[in-house]
Amino acid sequence: MSIHIVDHPLVHDALATLRDKRTTPEYFRRAATQISVLLAAEALRDLPTSDVTVDTPIGPAEGRRVSTDVVVVPILRAGLGMLDAVLEMVPSARVGHIGLQRNETTAVASQYYSKLPPGVDRSVVLMVDPMLATGGSAVAALDVLRLAGATRVRIICIVAAPEGVRLVEERHPDVAIYTPVVDRSLNAQKYIVPGLGDFGDRLYGTL
Ligand code: PRP
Ligand code: URA
Repeated sequence: MSIHIVDHPLVHDALATLRDKRTTPEYFRRAATQISVLLAAEALRDLPTSDVTVDTPIGPAEGRRVSTDVVVVPILRAGLGMLDAVLEMVPSARVGHIGLQRNETTAVASQYYSKLPPGVDRSVVLMVDPMLATGGSAVAALDVLRLAGATRVRIICIVAAPEGVRLVEERHPDVAIYTPVVDRSLNAQKYIVPGLGDFGDRLYGTL
């Protein structure tokens, strides 16, 4: 099973704000940040650490520091709404960008941009894309990451559909998906039902 349901009251609270059609871009962006912090924390729970000793003002204390390179990969454009939240949590992370756009009629994703940092094969890669609908965009992005040598990849998304989860599980069974919810279905236009509408348009006010 590659799906991890992130069930936390603060996640659900932010999700309700994101779903609400009355939420303005200002509050939508804020809720996207809040939920992304919590999803990223869960998706990075297994990051390796190494033991350290630091000196507090009172004396030495044992501690642990993250001991692996992390690469965050937002899928443009909607994934950018989650990026700053992740970087707050992992300030040393490097960032790769993959640009994908779904055709409005066919819902088939095509790639228009890709720039990854070197050495993704040695990094933990956190792909961030708020909507996992048909799964076409996620699979296309995962194909790019796989071609670049990435092996330790996980995804955070804010709403998933059963179709998208199935496709990722089928094509990239080693990739874990962290999401608060798997919604009912897709509509004829391949939007998630009930979903939250078009994430990128609501984030940037381009409706
Ligand atoms: C949205 C979303 C995902 C994709 C999901 O992006 O951010 O990338 O749709 O749909 P899928 O699972 O059916 O591929 P969109 O193509 O609308 O572009 P945008 O981020 O520029 O708004
Ligand atoms: N992309 C979105 O922004 N929303 C959906 O419901 C599906 C794809």
